[in-house]
Formats: sequence, structure tokens, C-alpha cells
Amino acid sequence: MAPRKNPRLLSGIQPSGTLHLGNYFGMMSRMIQYQKDSDLFCFIANYHALTALPDKDTLAQNTFHAACDFLALGIDPDQSTFWVQSDVPQVTELTWVLSSMTSVGLMDRATSYKDKIAQGITANMGLFSYPILMAADILCFDTQVVPVGKDQKQHLEMTRDIAVRFNHTYGETLVIPEPDIEKTTQLLPGIDGQKMSKSYQNTIPIFADEKVIRKRVMSIVTDNTPIDQPKNKNTPLFHILSLFLHEMEQKDLEERYDGSGLRYGDIKLKLYERIMDHFSPFRSKRDQLVANEKQVRDILHFGAEKASKVAESVLDRVRLATGIGYF
Ligand code: TRP
Repeated sequence: MAPRKNPRLLSGIQPSGTLHLGNYFGMMSRMIQYQKDSDLFCFIANYHALTALPDKDTLAQNTFHAACDFLALGIDPDQSTFWVQSDVPQVTELTWVLSSMTSVGLMDRATSYKDKIAQGITANMGLFSYPILMAADILCFDTQVVPVGKDQKQHLEMTRDIAVRFNHTYGETLVIPEPDIEKTTQLLPGIDGQKMSKSYQNTIPIFADEKVIRKRVMSIVTDNTPIDQPKNKNTPLFHILSLFLHEMEQKDLEERYDGSGLRYGDIKLKLYERIMDHFSPFRSKRDQLVANEKQVRDILHFGAEKASKVAESVLDRVRLATGIGYF
């Protein structure tokens, strides 16, 4: 067997909708890069999506498509461990144990819960204890590093709090993970200028039909600064296009924004072309995967088996440490 690579990196993505550029730059592209020299664990968090997505077919479809997206973009199921969250039931067992370690006060402070309630999502218990399930996802695999977008920072802090508390109560059992938060991308704005998020319907999907992508790009909000005036760079169009540019091209864009004569329509067209160019090599692979559901399911089951082995050994330690393992 190949020697184990270090460190162990883990992250998950919710299949709550079609994956978009915010997912790609915040997490997916980094995960794919990291897999070369780390022990990468990557999963589709369908139990998390369940907290706010009660439609059975949509959840099943989104989960499958998210798996196809990842595989098409380059997650290698032999090099990495790639699975669907619900295929590794030890995580839900650990969630219960951790729930008994977690104060209600800690959960009360979760800003993502408050945000979701503010958006009109029903306040169910799954949504409330979402951060505990996320802590279990991480702690169940002796994770050392968690690459996530900035919006997950508080969840990572909670995970660490819960793990420290566990170890303090029961002795050293769980590995305390470090967050790895993307600094340059931070939160990607959506086409309306708010954070790019499925729940705001302001995303640019990675693999949608060309027409859909074009329409989304063309509707990115811009201001009505006259053409001969310098333009504001702290705007969604500038930020999104920047992600696709090399250093020199970036300088050039900055100069165009600072000078006169820039037309937003031209910049939008450039962004559209960049998006299509960047993802076109992966499109046919993705189409193939979508058409071969059985192949994708087999890959995911293979990943779940690998993940379960690790989870089971962590759970053994947890069961012993807590007294659940004695009878
Ligand atoms: N909550 C994360 C998100 O919405 C998804 C997630 C679930 C996750 N479990 C995780 C991320 C564990 C990192 C580690 O983006």
C-alpha cells in the first residue's frame, strides 16, 4: 500500500443546489489542488442539506450532480477518499455523543442558523444542531486541516471548542483540527453583490447551459458611472473576473477600471468567455459521468468503505473513552 500522505485534509460541500463559482473558488478548486500532496477526505454533505431541503428528488439529484461535478473537475477517487456523508453512519453516531458535550449556549451563538431563520427557513432541530453534525464530520476522521470558505469560520471554531471539551472530559481522544480559510477569495459576491449563495439565487453555476451562464453574467449589477470616468473596483464584476486572471491581466484590468472608456458590457463578455474557457475541458467528462450513474455510485461506495474504516477506528476510541463501549 502507498504510504500515507500528510496532513489529513477534510472538507465537505452541501448539495443544496447546483454548484457555483463560489463553491468552486472557496473550496472545490483548492481541494483538487491539495490532493497531490495531502491525504484528502472529501464528501457530499447530504445530511446537512436535508436540514433545509425537504424535496426528495431534488436532494437525490443534487447529491448525484455534486459528485459528478467533483469527479469531472479532478477529484481522484484512488488518490483521495471521496464519498457521500450518509454512507458513513458512524458520523451520526458521533454526532449524538458530541451533542451531549455541547452546550445549548454555544449553538445559540451560531450566526448561520440565525441567517437561515431570517431567510424564512423553518427552524428545525437539524438546522439548530447543524454545527454538531459538522464537528462530527471533521472529528470522525482525525482531520488535521479543514479548507473552507470564510463563512464556515465560526463552525470550525465550534468544532474545536467541542473537541477540546471532549478531550478535557474524557482524556486525549480527538484530533483538534486547524481551519484553512482562503484569504484571497474570501466571500465571493454573487451577481447582485451579496455573498454568492444558492439561497440568494444570485449564483453563476459551474456547469449550467451556456445560455444560463451568459444570462447570469450579463445580469451582474453594475453602477451608472459615466463611461469617461474611473470605475469602482470593489464591485462584483471586478471581483469575479479577477479570479480568472493572471497577475499581468489583473494589472491590466485595474488600469482599465482606473482609466476612462471602460464599458461594463465588454467586461461582462470577457468574464463569460473566461468562465466557458476555464470549465470547457471538464464539461464532456461531466456529461459522461452524468450518463453513467452506476459508475458514479460504485466510486462513491468505494469511497464510503475507505472512509468507514477510519471512522470506525475513531469511534472505537470514542466508545471506550465515554463508557459507551462497556457493558
Ligand atoms: N457547512 C459546510 C458548508 O455549508 C459544509 C460542511 C459540512 C463541511 N460538513 C463539513 C465543511 C465538514 C467542512 C467540513 O459549506
